[in-house]
This record gives sequence, structure tokens and C-alpha cells, in this order.
Amino acid sequence: MYYFKTSKEILDFLNKTNKSVGLVPTMGALHPGHESLIKKALIENEIVIVSIFVNPTQFDNKDDLINYPRNLESDVKKIKKIDSKIIIYSPLIKDLYVDNISVKDFNFGFIGSELEGHFRKNHFNSVATIVEKLFNLFKPNRAYFGEKDYQQILIIKNLILKSNLNVELTSCPTVRDPDGLALSSRNDLLSKKERKIAPIIYKTLLNVKNKIKNEQIESVIFKIENEFESTPSLKLEYLEIREALSLKPVKKINKEKKYRAFISAIIGKIRLIDNIEL
Ligand code: PAF
Repeated sequence: MYYFKTSKEILDFLNKTNKSVGLVPTMGALHPGHESLIKKALIENEIVIVSIFVNPTQFDNKDDLINYPRNLESDVKKIKKIDSKIIIYSPLIKDLYVDNISVKDFNFGFIGSELEGHFRKNHFNSVATIVEKLFNLFKPNRAYFGEKDYQQILIIKNLILKSNLNVELTSCPTVRDPDGLALSSRNDLLSKKERKIAPIIYKTLLNVKNKIKNEQIESVIFKIENEFESTPSLKLEYLEIREALSLKPVKKINKEKKYRAFISAIIGKIRLIDNIEL
């Protein structure tokens, strides 16, 4: 296994080969969702790089950054178990940001300002800043992202077009626990009691999917929002149905188009998001 703290060491290594490169950008605390991305990357590329970097600029809340789960030792073990030839890039802040911890303004327009973009100001500019740095450094042929962060995938696709990057983006389905909870590094922060409540998030999405078959979208959402009022342990931040590509709000389903339901909810101090195709 190849473990590097600086991009220079990896570039020295890559420069000696002419092999295809797959990049799996992560913030660590790896779970089977990440593992599915890594396994897919291994099938499609000769070299796989997994970056583990908790990007400080993409946290709008200091406590969230401080408390974000970090588990480098166990991450390295997990990666090694998948394939000992995977390259791990686990840099210090200065290796990526050099002397200037600044965020580029990409102007992603509507897809950047809605949903997560509305609740987490500048989040997508920060994500795109770091992903662009990783793409420019390692020039991967392919990069892998999970559908749990569906809006992030739209942003990265837009980044690739905007910055004219020669990377093929592959998205992989959300991996769930048996009770439906989407795997997320933040799940590690839930107490036992909170973990028991958390599957309501996915159940709500399935409920929406089922109900909009026979009922107006507005009325379905209104009723579910009211039901949440009586579940104080789970605060609903948003529940929305949007067009899958443009993220435009939807009043009525048109069978020709693709839609997704998006949810964000807060349990105790932990904010979780999920989405499904409708
Ligand atoms: O999805 C994530 O873990 C992060 O947003 C990413 C893509 C690694 C950028 O920091």
C-alpha cells in the first residue's frame, strides 16, 4: 500500500507510469458507501487514489468541523483490506491550500443556491475549490462520488464543464443500513437513541414517493411537514421534490421527466441529508 502526505510524492510516483487513474475524494471516516466507490474505481482504472482530507472551508459551522469523525488509522486498514496497491493521499491543509485558505467563486447559479446551497452558504464553492485542486493535481481519468450527495454530483459535473476538466464522473448508488438509513460518516456521531430515530428520514422519502402517485405534491409535502411537528426529536429542515437535472421545483409530475425527493433533518445536533429518485 502506498500512503502519502504530500501530492508531490504521488506525482513523482504517477509520472513514472502511464496508467489510467481513478480518484475517490473522501473526508475519511470510511464506510461501505465509500468502499463501493473504491471498488468501482478499482474495476475501471489501473491506479486508484483515495484522498482523505477534511476540507475545513466546506464547514459553515465550527463545531461541525471540530466534531467531524476522523479515523485515519482505521481508514487506512479498510483501504488496505480492499487492495494493498491503492494510493492513499492524506495531506495537511498546506499541501492543498498552500499559504492561502481561500475559496473560489464558481457561480454555479440555481443548482448551487438551492437546497444544501441555501442552508450551507458557500458550501458548494468550497467543495468545488478542493475537488478542482485534486483534479488539477492528479489529472484522474475518472472520479467517483456517491448519490447520497446528489446535489454535489450536479455541482461537480458543472465544475468539469466550467473548468474544462478532462475527467469522467461516475456516480454510485447510496448504500444503506438494513433499516434504510443512508450511510454517512456523520451517523457515527448519533447516540443510540438518535440512531433509532434516524431511519424516519428514508421512510419519509419512500412515503413521498408512494403518496405522490395519487395525491397532489403540495398536499403530500404539507401533510408530512405537519407530521414532523409532532416528532420534536427530528427537526425537518427541508423536504422537496425537484427536477433531477435542473433542481427546479415541481408542482405536477410529468411522466417524461426525472424527479428526485430531497430531505434534510436534524437529530439532536446532527444534520443528515438523503434523497431518492422518484
Ligand atoms: O463528499 C465529500 O466527502 C466531500 O464533499 C468531498 C467531495 C470529498 C470534498 O471535500
